[in-house]
Amino acid sequence: MQLLLLLWLLFEYLAHYAMMIPMGSMSSSHSISVYAYAKINLGLEVLFKRADGFHELNTVFVRISLADALVVSTVSVASSFSSDKIPSNSKYTPDISVQCSPALPIAETDNLAYKAACALYSFCMTNSVKKNYVSSDPEDLTMEYSHAGLRASRTSIVISKTLPLGGGLGGGSANAAAVLRACNELWQCGCDQATLLRIAATLGSDVPFFVLDVPCALGTSRGEVLQPFDLHIPYWIVLVCPGIHISTPWAYAVLSRTAELSTRKATAFSQILPDIIHQPELLREYIVNDFEPVVFAHHPVIANIRDCLYATGALFAFMSGSGSTMVGFYSTVEEATQASNHIRCAFDAELPDMQTFICTAA
Ligand code: C5P
Repeated sequence: MQLLLLLWLLFEYLAHYAMMIPMGSMSSSHSISVYAYAKINLGLEVLFKRADGFHELNTVFVRISLADALVVSTVSVASSFSSDKIPSNSKYTPDISVQCSPALPIAETDNLAYKAACALYSFCMTNSVKKNYVSSDPEDLTMEYSHAGLRASRTSIVISKTLPLGGGLGGGSANAAAVLRACNELWQCGCDQATLLRIAATLGSDVPFFVLDVPCALGTSRGEVLQPFDLHIPYWIVLVCPGIHISTPWAYAVLSRTAELSTRKATAFSQILPDIIHQPELLREYIVNDFEPVVFAHHPVIANIRDCLYATGALFAFMSGSGSTMVGFYSTVEEATQASNHIRCAFDAELPDMQTFICTAA
C-alpha cells in the first residue's frame, strides 16, 4: 500500500514538472477551422485609371453562403526556422505548407493563402525585431520572437476547395483573409483589425473585404476602402461558373482602352440599394457591372448564360467581379433549383467545366 502511495506521489511530481518544461524544448500544436465565404459584386463601376496604374472603383461586396473550409494548424518548436522557403521580402520565415483539395494548378508559393501567412509573419517579425532585436544571430532572433509571443513554426494550411479559381467570387482572397485571421490568433501576433486590413490590402484589392467580415460593404478606391451598410437580399442566388478563366489585369486593360472612363459618374449604391432591392426592374436599370461588355464581347457564351438566367425566371442577372461567374436572383429555392438544372443541361456540351451553385447572401 505504501509502495503504491509512493509511486502515486512520484507520478504526481513528474507530471507537475513536465507541465513546467518551457515551450522551447517541446512542441505543442494548435489548430483553427474556419469557413472562407465568397462574395459577389452587386454593381461594379470602374471610374478612372489612377496614376499608380490601379483603377478607381465603386462597387458593393455582398458575402454569400458558398465557402471553402480551412484548417490552419501550427506546431510551435522554438528552433524550427527554415531557410529553404524564404520569400524575397523576408529574412526568416516559418515552415508553411498549403494543401488544397482538389489540388490547384498553381505552385504552393503562388497560393494567396501562402502569401498571406508570409506577409503576416514578415510584418510581425519586423515589428518584433524593431522592439526586441539585439543580436544578428538567428538563434537569438528565435528567442526574441518567442518572447514577443510570436511562436510561428511549422504551419499547415489545409483548404477544402469549393470556390472556383479566378471566377470573380474572391475565392483566393477569402482564403487569404481567413489565413491572416487564423495565423494572427495561432501565432499570438496581436494585430488589431486595422493592421490586418493594411496587410490584406498589400495582398489584393478585395482581401480587406474578407478581413472585415461583414455581410455587405461599399468598396471604393482600389476596392480596399470599405463602408459596411445594411442590405437584406431577399433572393435565392444561382451562381453559374462557366469554367472560363478571366484575367483581372486583362479585363481592366481592355476596359481602359475601350470605355470612356473619365465621364463615368459613381452611383450612390449604399443609398439606393436598400430602397430598390425589392424592385428587380430598378435593379436591372441602375445596377451595372462595367466589365460585362468587355467580357461578353470576348466570350459570347457568358452573355448567353445571362440570357438563359432570365429565360429561367431570374429577376436580376449579372456578372460578379471581372467574371466569369454569372449570378441570378430568384424568388424561391424551387425556381433556383430548376434554373440551375436547366442551365447545366443547356451548356453541358459547350462548357464541360461549368459548375452551378445555389446559395444565399450570408
Ligand atoms: O489588387 P489585385 O491583385 O486584385 O489586382 C490585380 C490587378 O487588377 C492589378 O494588378 C491591376 O492590374 C488590376 N486592378 C486595377 N484596379 C483595381 C484593382 C485591380 O487596375 N482597383
